[in-house]
Amino acid sequence: MKPLRIGVLGAGLVGRRHIETIRALPAVAELVAVADPAADPAQFDLGGAAWFSDAIQMLDRAGPEAIIIATPNNLHAPLGLKACERGIHLLVEKPVTATLEEAEQLARAVAASGVKTLVGHHRRYLAAVQEARRLIAEGALGDLVAASVVWATRKTDDYFNTAWRKEPGGGPLLINAIHEIDMLRYLCGEVRSVGGLASNARRGFAVEDTAAAMFQFDSGCLGTLICTDAGLSPWTIEQGSGENPRFAFSGQSTYRLIGTSASLELPVLRRWNARVPGVIGWDKPIDATDFSVPYLDPFEAQLEHFQRLIRRGEPPVVSVSDGASTLAATLAVAQSGRDGSRHSPRIFGIPG
Ligand SMILES: NC(=O)c1ccc[n+]([C@@H]2O[C@H](COP(=O)([O-])OP(=O)(O)OC[C@H]3O[C@@H](n4cnc5c(N)ncnc54)[C@H](O)[C@@H]3O)[C@@H](O)[C@H]2O)c1
Repeated sequence: MKPLRIGVLGAGLVGRRHIETIRALPAVAELVAVADPAADPAQFDLGGAAWFSDAIQMLDRAGPEAIIIATPNNLHAPLGLKACERGIHLLVEKPVTATLEEAEQLARAVAASGVKTLVGHHRRYLAAVQEARRLIAEGALGDLVAASVVWATRKTDDYFNTAWRKEPGGGPLLINAIHEIDMLRYLCGEVRSVGGLASNARRGFAVEDTAAAMFQFDSGCLGTLICTDAGLSPWTIEQGSGENPRFAFSGQSTYRLIGTSASLELPVLRRWNARVPGVIGWDKPIDATDFSVPYLDPFEAQLEHFQRLIRRGEPPVVSVSDGASTLAATLAVAQSGRDGSRHSPRIFGIPG
């Protein structure tokens, strides 16, 4: 398969990771250009790729066949639409767009233009997540009853030197919890109803530092999620899986998926099941069974999938509509956190 000729828009925290991933996988992708109005090109190993301070000039002059949009959220839709107009395939970071209106506009532009798209919910590519999904699908937990997620870490003060991280939309709900909400949709099914609480008591910024959410899924399964960037704990999927070098490894689980016949800790992949198969009850002994899967860097797995999506027509693991449904559920939690209302988030079904 020919490597993809990729341009990266936005060379900040996550743009750097995309640049490094592309550079590490020359058989999958070639970095042709990077665009960022503020970053310093000297800080990157560009391998000869061109540098632009203007994203649109990069699209028009560098001729990428695909781009990765890793800019602030409010630029995802405008830049994605420019790519659609030019027939350039795109991998857009999460959240797919800043608003649901923009998500709808982008989904329609993608469907009309035929460009291939992927939303950067990279967690789905973790081998432990794939294995959990397989175990759930084959009934290894029985019917899912409930899911409990804690994502809690203490971000360092310098993280907040960037102004948009202190403003509405820049907090842990849309930056971090959205990944877990996407995972809950991926593992437990579509969200029927959500409620939430949000607090800025620790940092006092205009955006939440802590949120709690509850979910009802179509299957009847219920879920809870605690998300904070102001509390120290070993319970983030980054720490548990080692997927992000910025997080110190803990090897602890973030998810507890509870079924009628067994439960599963994730990402550790420990199943708690009846010692005697089929002999189930609170008075019967249970044992732990550990599953082991090879660790695959999810950003690398995502890029490899992006190549197959474009070269071989593989269906997207996360389409724009899928990313939009995750955004709708996340925004519903945020709205509920503001006004106490319960919501049935919109489910998007625009093809593409
Ligand atoms: N998948 C993940 O795990 C993950 C992790 C972090 C962030 N993200 C997402 O990635 C995006 C970027 O987040 P970040 O933490 O890297 O932010 P950041 O602020 O570190 O980087 C954003 C970069 O975009 C640049 N930029 C601004 N306007 C631009 C334009 N018009 N054209 C090109 N570049 C422009 C900025 O100069 C900056 O360098 C956000 O949407 C965020 O939600 C995803």
